[in-house]
Amino acid sequence: MSTNITKHNYHITRNDHNRQNGHNSFVIWFTGLSGSGKSTIANNLEKALFHKGIKTYSLDGDNIRSGLNKGLTFSLEDRKENNRRIAEVAKLFMDAGIVTVTAFISPLKQDREEARKIIGESNFLEIYVNTPLSICEERDVKGLYKKARAGEIENFTGISSPYEAPEEPALEIRTQQMSINESIEKITEYLKVKLKNNE
Ligand code: ADX
Repeated sequence: MSTNITKHNYHITRNDHNRQNGHNSFVIWFTGLSGSGKSTIANNLEKALFHKGIKTYSLDGDNIRSGLNKGLTFSLEDRKENNRRIAEVAKLFMDAGIVTVTAFISPLKQDREEARKIIGESNFLEIYVNTPLSICEERDVKGLYKKARAGEIENFTGISSPYEAPEEPALEIRTQQMSINESIEKITEYLKVKLKNNE
């Protein structure tokens, strides 16, 4: 497909951006079931980082699916493409010196590994928002589980489509055991070293 394409080298590099911003850039990749709390935690994390003067941006499943990824379904094939595009976009933001927070179900290990490859092992921080299906379903904030059980939504994650939990995430947030503030503290503590610009 990519014939007659020649890559250009940019004069301003990620290191230059990082130096100017005074911190490293990387991708914080949240994964978890629909309704697990990914977006809430991602939003609050971004707020906490922003107030520390860190350059951040969030890419969220529902938002990206109404723009860049409009038209993609929830088949495993389309989720894979959703995942790939997000990984590529997240990488661009990271290259621009921004701490990029993504919040997608990203249900398959293989797809998350693909994202890790695109973004680079040392730049990819996987955070598993671990909320049991029964709790997500009980909360059912968007009313989607009810619809999925009634057969009104097909390929619904956890009901009629798989979710493969990460085995060795960088961090795991058990939302039943931790408040949002505690979760954010745990994550920001973990990020302290990552953020240091070692140049
Ligand atoms: S992913 O699997 O491709 O990573 P993504 O995070 O972009 O999913 O989108 C998930 C959001 O889309 C859910 O939070 C929910 O609001 C909505 N949604 C609509 N249909 C489905 C479905 N079949 N399975 C899961 N989520 C769905």
